[in-house]
Amino acid sequence: MLGVLLLLLLLMPLPATATAQLCGSGGSYVANGTYESNLAALASTLPANASSSPQLFAAATAGQSPDAVHALALCRGDFANDTACRDCVAASFQHAQRTCPSDKAATVYYEYDNDQRPGCVLGFSGDDGFLNPAANLTGNGTLFQAWNTGNISGVASVIAAGVHELLTATSEDAAANVTRRYATVVMDSAPTLYSLAQCTPDLSAGDCQACLQRLIGMVNATTSVRLGGRIFVLRCNVRFETFMFFDHPMRRISPSSNAPAPPTGKSTLWFLSPSIRRCTNTIERLQIHLLVVVPILI
Ligand SMILES: *[C@@H]1O[C@H](CO)[C@@H](O)[C@H](O)[C@H]1NC(C)=O
Ligand SMILES: *[C@@H]1O[C@H](CO)[C@@H](O)[C@H](O)[C@H]1NC(C)=O
Ligand SMILES: *[C@@H]1O[C@H](CO)[C@@H](O)[C@H](O)[C@H]1NC(C)=O
Ligand SMILES: *[C@@H]1O[C@H](CO)[C@@H](O)[C@H](O)[C@H]1NC(C)=O
Ligand SMILES: *[C@@H]1O[C@H](CO)[C@@H](O)[C@H](O)[C@H]1NC(C)=O
Ligand SMILES: *[C@@H]1O[C@H](CO)[C@@H](O)[C@H](O)[C@H]1NC(C)=O
Ligand SMILES: *[C@@H]1O[C@H](CO)[C@@H](O)[C@H](O)[C@H]1NC(C)=O
Ligand SMILES: *[C@@H]1O[C@H](CO)[C@@H](O)[C@H](O)[C@H]1NC(C)=O
Repeated sequence: MLGVLLLLLLLMPLPATATAQLCGSGGSYVANGTYESNLAALASTLPANASSSPQLFAAATAGQSPDAVHALALCRGDFANDTACRDCVAASFQHAQRTCPSDKAATVYYEYDNDQRPGCVLGFSGDDGFLNPAANLTGNGTLFQAWNTGNISGVASVIAAGVHELLTATSEDAAANVTRRYATVVMDSAPTLYSLAQCTPDLSAGDCQACLQRLIGMVNATTSVRLGGRIFVLRCNVRFETFMFFDHPMRRISPSSNAPAPPTGKSTLWFLSPSIRRCTNTIERLQIHLLVVVPILI
């Protein structure tokens, strides 16, 4: 009975799911204190500021030391609907308060289950250097990875080379995009691969490229043949899948000579509906406190 219920829950179209939150290590704030009210001030204005920004990005500080709170929010670069951006950032604040209660610092990666509905990134902290764009580009304090547990079938070395080539091209495009530091690329390989890369727009092209290259460097022999994966840090993220999960590809590339041979038939997953695919797209827990995969129905 419970099994049936769980199956039904998993098969239902879901409104939204938080992919992950990382509760910060900066300690707790006291209830009803100044830090809490500064955080509440950010939660009430940052969502609208991010969604009304041409870059879908906002960073702000509320209050003064020692109770100053710094926050930044970034929506995925293909948002056409700024209501969705505002709602995503607002939901991320609420999610942080629910899942990291009273924590002075938290990072939330909020993603919708519908593959084509964009998500957002929110981070806040009492650390004075938090909003410095070059700060902590090399730390793992906000690192989160989620990997499909299935593998792409084929010659592993060829697939790995294709995935690296695709991610590298995507990161170069994202770093070169001065408007949003965002790019999507499709690779005509077998299977067709789709990828996305984004940095916060306050990063220079060089810092964006370095941030993304570090993430791509974490894609190892095991993970580079997975059916999909995402790696996030606060200021940049990359994702690849065997299905199109964004609005439209900004560039189409072909694998270089050493990459996959002509199609021999697409992955079965290709034909599954998004909700079924979601079930198979099991996310592995890595470095996170809690992973919310069960929908909140009330
Ligand atoms: C905080 O304020 C709320 C509402 O004003 C009150 O119910 C609660 O008891 C207060 N908590 C503390 C710890 O002061
Ligand atoms: C939001 O934007 C307004 C108007 O530019 C600005 O006064 C305010 O400080 C911003 N607040 C946040 C939290 O970004
Ligand atoms: C940069 O990203 C924006 C937003 O996604 C997109 O509209 C624009 O075409 C991109 N610019 C370049 C040069 O790729
Ligand atoms: C914009 O997004 C909101 C939800 O965030 C949705 O209710 C609304 O229908 C969307 N509007 C358009 C024009 O897509
Ligand atoms: C860098 O991150 C560490 C924890 O990950 C934090 O303690 C430190 O304050 C951060 N530095 C800056 C400049 O943000
Ligand atoms: C960050 O994590 C990656 C991947 O797990 C690891 O290779 C790297 O050494 C870590 N860096 C630091 C500074 O801990
Ligand atoms: C590959 O990366 C994953 C995710 O960071 C990690 O769990 C795994 O141990 C790595 N495998 C190898 C062989 O390094
Ligand atoms: C995926 O490939 C790895 C080797 O890279 C193997 O250990 C693992 O069992 C494979 N997983 C599946 C589901 O086939």
